[in-house]
Parts: sequence; C-alpha cells; structure tokens
Amino acid sequence: MHRLSATHRPFSGFAATAILVFTGLFLAGPNRSAASSLELTIRPVFNGAPLLLDSLRYPNAAGETLSVTRLSYLLSSFALEREDGTWIEQVGRYAWFDAVKHRDTVRLDDIPNGRYRALRFCLGPDPEANAAAPARFPADHALNANFNGLHWSWQGGYIFLALEGLYRARAATSSDTVPLAAPIFTAPPLSGYAYHLARDPQRTRITLTAPLDLTHDAGVGVDFDLGALLNAPRPLSFARDGAATHSRDGDPVAAALVANLRGAFRVAGVFSAAPAISVPSPVKPLYLPARYTPYRLKIAASFPIPDLPRDNPLIEERVALGKALFNETALSRDGALSCASCHQGGAAFSDPRRVSLGVGGKPGTRNAMPLFNLAWKSSFFWDGRSPSLRAQILVPIQDHAEMDETLERVVAKLAAASVDAAPDYPALFMAAFGAPEITTEKLALALEQFLLTLTAHDAKFDRALRGQENLTADEQRGFELFMTENDPRTGQRGADCFHCHGGPLFSDHQFHNNGLTATEDIGREKFTGMTSDRGKFATPSLRNVARTAPYMHDGRFSTLEEVVAHYSEGVVRTPTLDPNLAKHPDGGLRLDASDQRALVAFLKTLEELPAVEARSY
Ligand code: HEC
Ligand code: HEC
Repeated sequence: MHRLSATHRPFSGFAATAILVFTGLFLAGPNRSAASSLELTIRPVFNGAPLLLDSLRYPNAAGETLSVTRLSYLLSSFALEREDGTWIEQVGRYAWFDAVKHRDTVRLDDIPNGRYRALRFCLGPDPEANAAAPARFPADHALNANFNGLHWSWQGGYIFLALEGLYRARAATSSDTVPLAAPIFTAPPLSGYAYHLARDPQRTRITLTAPLDLTHDAGVGVDFDLGALLNAPRPLSFARDGAATHSRDGDPVAAALVANLRGAFRVAGVFSAAPAISVPSPVKPLYLPARYTPYRLKIAASFPIPDLPRDNPLIEERVALGKALFNETALSRDGALSCASCHQGGAAFSDPRRVSLGVGGKPGTRNAMPLFNLAWKSSFFWDGRSPSLRAQILVPIQDHAEMDETLERVVAKLAAASVDAAPDYPALFMAAFGAPEITTEKLALALEQFLLTLTAHDAKFDRALRGQENLTADEQRGFELFMTENDPRTGQRGADCFHCHGGPLFSDHQFHNNGLTATEDIGREKFTGMTSDRGKFATPSLRNVARTAPYMHDGRFSTLEEVVAHYSEGVVRTPTLDPNLAKHPDGGLRLDASDQRALVAFLKTLEELPAVEARSY
C-alpha cells in the first residue's frame, strides 16, 4: 500500500464493507494516533437558503416556479491536498447523499495527521465501480442499488444524481401577447421534471479550497446550491430545454447540469469535531438450539445482498415452525383464519379478493400484499408504517379487521393444541429454539424466518437475460418500453416504468403517488402527517404480477390491461403526483394499443417459474 507513489497514497484501502470485515484488525491497528477523521457534511440549499423539500416556491432564470421532491446522489474519489501540493486519496470510499432521507454526511477516516488546503471528490462512481454489477455490495453499502434507490443499468451504470420535482410554467405577464379573452387568474398547469445524471462522461470532479487542520479530527460543511445547479452559468428552462434528462450522448440538459455542477458546491464552514467512533457490537443469535440445520437461502446472483437479521439466522427447524404458524387458524379469534387465508399460495401469497375479509367476514380496506423478496424491504405495509418485518408480523393477529385475537390467547391455544392434535407445537418450538416454551417473541422470530425464505428471482425474464430462453417479439418490445424514458423532445417514446419499478427486484421500495383517483385512503400521509405524502403508496414489486390481481392498494383494477391503460390515459394530476409521471402529457403516456399489449406481455414474463410456493416447499 505504501509503495504507491507519494501523490497517490491511499489512506483507507477498502473496496467494500465485505472486505472490511476481514481487514478490521488491520485498520484498527497501527497509527491510530497519527491519523485523524474528517466529517464532510453537504447540505442542500437553494440560492443560499436551506432547501425546503416539496415546496413549490423556487424560481429559475426562465421564470418557472419549481419544487424539489428528490435529491439523491453518489460521491466517490475523495482526496485531500496537502500544503505541499500532493494529494492524499481515499481509495474505494463511496458515499450516498439523499435530501429526503437526511443523509448528508460522510466520515473519512485514517487521514494522516497534518494540514491540508483543499478537498475534492467526484459526483458519480469511478468507471470501474460504475461498470460492475451492484449486486456484490453489502446491504448497507452506498453502491448497493437496492439501498440507495438510484437505479443501476447495464448500459449506463448508476444514476448518480437524481433531481426531481414539480414546476409551473411561467405565468403570462403584461408584456406577453395574451389573447384578450384569456382568463386572468388561471395558473399555468403543474408539471414534473426529472433530471438524472448517469454515464461516465458526466462524472464530475469538484475541488474546494478549505484550510483543514487535521492534526485532530475536524469537520467541513459544504453547501450544494440547487439554484446554481439549475441556473449558472447555463440557465435551464423546463419548457424550453426539456423536463427530463437521462444523460444520453449529446443531451444538452445533461451538458448544462455538468457545466453548472462545479460552481454549485461551496464551503460553508470548517469546524473542529471529534466524530464518535462507532464500533458495531457483535450480534448474538437468539435462542439457537444445540443442534440445528442451517437453511440455505438461494438468491439470484443479480440480486443485491439482503440485510438478513443477524440475531435470527435462518435454520431449517425455525423455518418449518414458521410455515406451520403461517397456516395455523388458531392465530385468529374464531379459528377460521390463518395468514394463508389472505396471503394465498396460488397467488404469490397475495389475495385474489379486492380487499381481504377478516374474522366474521369483516372487509378490510386494502388489498393484501404479496409476500416474497421481503428480505430486501425495509418498510412494510402499503404506507410503510412498519419499519421491521418482525415487528409487523404480529400486527395482523391483533388487528380487529384481520385475525382479531390476543397474543396471550394465541400462545395458550398453541400450547394446548399439542394435547390431542398435530402439529405438536411444544415439540416444534423445542426443535426451533432449544426449549418448548411458546412466547410471542418466538412466534415472531419463526414467522419472520418463513417469510424471508419466500423469494422470487427465476422468471422467464431472468432466463432470457441469461440467454436460456427467448422473449417473443411482443415481450421484447414491452421490455424496451418498460426500460425506456419517454422523451418526446428527442423523439424517444418509452413507458418510463423503470423509474419506480426498476432493478432486479422491480421496485425502488419508495413511496409515490402514481396518479390514481383519490379515495379516503390518503396513504403515507396518515403515517407521516405530511400533506406532501398524500396519496403515496409503496411501489409494489412487479415480479409475479400476473398472479397478484387485483391491483393497487385497494385492488381497484382487475387486469394488467386496466393498469397499463391507467398509465396511458388515466393519470390524475395532483400536487403530490410523482414528477416522473407529471412530466408526461395530461392523462399519461398515450401509448397506442400495440404498445399497451406489448407492456402487458412483458409484465407476464416476470412470473416465477416454478411458482414461488411450489419451489419453496
Ligand atoms: C384478513 C386478511 C389478512 C390476514 C389474515 C393476514 N394479512 Fe398480512 N396483509 C393483509 C393486508 C390487507 C395487508 C396490507 C395492509 C396495509 O397496507 O395496511 C397485509 C400486509 C402484510 C405484510 C406486509 C408486506 C409488505 O410487503 O409490506 C406482511 C409481511 C404480512 N401481511 C404478513 C402476514 C402474516 C405473517 C399474517 C399472519 C400472522 C398475515 N399477514 C395475516 C391482509 C391479511
Ligand atoms: C412514479 C412511480 C411509478 C411509475 C413511473 C410507475 N409506477 Fe407502477 N406503481 C407505482 C406505485 C406507487 C404503485 C402502487 C400504487 C397504489 O397502490 O396506490 C404502482 C402499482 C403498479 C402496479 C400494480 C401492482 C400490484 O401488485 O398491485 C402495476 C402492475 C404497475 N404499477 C405497473 C407499472 C407500469 C407498467 C409502469 C409503466 C407504464 C409503471 N407502473 C410506472 C409507482 C410507479
């Protein structure tokens, strides 16, 4: 490491957290006292003032008024310049910043003590990392596309800057020639913009002068000014230049953004700080029996590495118990319902009924969600109100509209069930936990394991990607539409679905308003209390979508044809409509009949072969 040239001496040489695990001793080893840490905090601002998200208030040079609903970006190649002009580089360090998620800080460790005069980093990963499939990164790595939600594709690598929002065109002024009959107070319609930088040529290096005394730990605050990004030196107008860019060759919008980027970052302050060194505490598996068989979870190589619960490692015995509990009607008050009543095997563990019926036939308000690939989700339910699978599993048992039973009574019923009938729960708990006692915590651990084993990753589409099967012409056309942005400005007609349903999981696991006509169910707003979340729901995975009818959170559409028609003609414009849909013409994409047919044909290629439930058991 130290034999590299003096100007390129890496001071923290780990390429990925996975490797960190094995080199941990080394990193914690020598020279700790001769090295310092620098905390780099980057705050989004607009024309100098702290950015307010979701607020239609910001002017651009073209007189348009805009809001920012999303700002997410990747940084790499951090380096510091010593006073003698040599650069100290931090090799293999990446950071993901996200305004919505309040991710605004990266800590650079093991910097040789000394004084420095400048800091630099690149917006966008280095070409090598950009070309490598992101599946190899650990679950919480900045470059894990499932974690950062920044779409990665084989053609362009990561979207490394996503700036999205809504805008209103410039209001007519007295100097414009306005037809006399024009109503005076009609506001120009609300539209959306989505600026996405991707591809190596757009990777931009930012260098900032800052006197940094790193004889001890320190911090530096930087402003990222979106006003400058959109306006200087090359002013952008959504109406004139286009409301979307995906950084294709020669796209003038991408070129202007790159030209503006360098001046958009400014040092706001340098401060002394002592970043707390967090050493992750080792996690102990809960109630591991003396003898057990590890469960081998199979996932596709193209999938990101999931963040499996380390205190509940998958074992055959516990998965088997979880499966029995999933099918157990004693979990409900009247003994008529199990989890499987609403999460049915033949329907990728969703419910073919529009809304599920709870105990006593009481209708719920939402369509039951399919259950697969849950290991990649970090919030659950249509509105994301539950942050952990384990915590949410016990909810339906107690929910009055669902199983309506108390956990105490469930435990008592399961303990008693062994007396005369199978399954013998105390024995199953013994095998799964090393003790026969039944507790609600163990119920949750076992159900969690069973749910985590439900995966979907081998559909006709996956086989076609591997060259083992061919898509029909219609399916292929549908795939292209799905993956292609719709950009009438450049003559490019696509269906733009990948923005939200992209990646190998066919979901960004975020919350969006996809333009459905409103009902009383305000979605995520009910949980966050923010009007900017009105009508937003979790993006469902489209794997197995041919089996999960009816569709949407309330099951309002019964066929895929109806869903595609919605995106083509039925999109309703509201203040929270996602910018990626708001940028289309009124109503939607206006796809012709053959394109709509092709999209449906493609969606059907995502059906798991063999079916999830048949393969798992
Ligand atoms: C009466 C029908 C019904 C029963 C019984 C039921 N569920 Fe559900 N389940 C639903 C509905 C409806 C939703 C979506 C609810 C929402 O978003 O508010 C859901 C959502 C879920 C989710 C969230 C999935 C995701 O992707 O976020 C999980 C996990 C789940 N159920 C597991 C279970 C388990 C485990 C059981 C048995 C203990 C169970 N369910 C019993 C209807 C049911
Ligand atoms: C702005 C993000 C976004 C875009 C773009 C988008 N979707 Fe969706 N999609 C969603 C969300 C969010 C839902 C769930 C909405 C709800 O239930 O209220 C959804 C639901 C669906 C469903 C229903 C799935 C189910 O299990 O209920 C299908 C099918 C679907 N979308 C297909 C598509 C197709 C095809 C395209 C491209 C034409 C597309 N989507 C574009 C966000 C998006």
